[in-house]
Amino acid sequence: MTSRDALVPGQPPTAGDSSMAHDGHARANQLDAKLARLHSLEDRIRAIRAAISGRIAFSSSLGIEDQAVTHAIAETKADIDLFTLDTGRHFPETLDTLFETEGRYGFKVRVVFPDARDVEDLVASDGIYGFRYSVDARKACCDVRKVRPLNKALAGASAWITGLRREQSVGRADVPFASYDPHLNLIKVNPIADWSLAFLEDYISTHKVPINALHAKGFPSIGCQPCTRAVLPGEDIRAGRWWWENENGKECGLHTHDQSEADAPLVTTTGHAA
Ligand code: ADX
Ligand code: SF4
Repeated sequence: MTSRDALVPGQPPTAGDSSMAHDGHARANQLDAKLARLHSLEDRIRAIRAAISGRIAFSSSLGIEDQAVTHAIAETKADIDLFTLDTGRHFPETLDTLFETEGRYGFKVRVVFPDARDVEDLVASDGIYGFRYSVDARKACCDVRKVRPLNKALAGASAWITGLRREQSVGRADVPFASYDPHLNLIKVNPIADWSLAFLEDYISTHKVPINALHAKGFPSIGCQPCTRAVLPGEDIRAGRWWWENENGKECGLHTHDQSEADAPLVTTTGHAA
């Protein structure tokens, strides 16, 4: 067993692990600087694979950003664990994208589901549309259907790739290329952090990457069907996500603990230890 294996992903490092956390920050900073110097996504993917030993997991929502990253992973044949979280509330078009992606690239995407018992308990307590009634209930649903499955999928991984872009929202404006996440005890990598939407769309069209049909119907950001609507021209990219909630903090919890609660232990959005 390596010293990495001794740490529990999702648990903050103990005092004895502080040198490892220090090492994690140093390696992440090095990778961050390296990625900033590289221009092509394919080169960035190769650099990530070369810099990190152990399992690198890529969480794909099957949205346009993640489809670009999937394409580059397929092109480079990098050994990366590609998975998606099936919340049980996806649009049919999202599942079609999954099917088309597997056909186009000839590999299987690992589909991670929420714990059935957790979903049953949630629906028994809050109802099938419980997430409509309060922000807390909405976060409880995201916790059960997304955050806990994410933590499960990332268990044991050395790094986590996402398709976050700085341009997506004010809250994401400072997203780095790479940073050490002390809660998950891994390096989080955002290889298209600096991409504009125009650049992304150009990449998608140049490489004929399959994307969700909803993007062409006014859905720049696609989450679960009951919690996503189309946006009007000029509206914010994420205006269609949880549109009934206040603009501040419209995140599901997948990416928030390392930004706003950097020194707090990882807790689920319902407040229970993960
Ligand atoms: S969310 O937090 O508001 O849902 P968004 O849709 O912008 O996130 O996606 C940002 C990143 O979160 C994606 O690039 C992806 O890495 C991850 N992500 C979001 N939803 C999923 C999902 N269903 N499965 C896997 N990864 C996801
Ligand atoms: Fe539940 Fe909506 Fe969150 Fe999906 S986006 S997990 S349906 S609250």
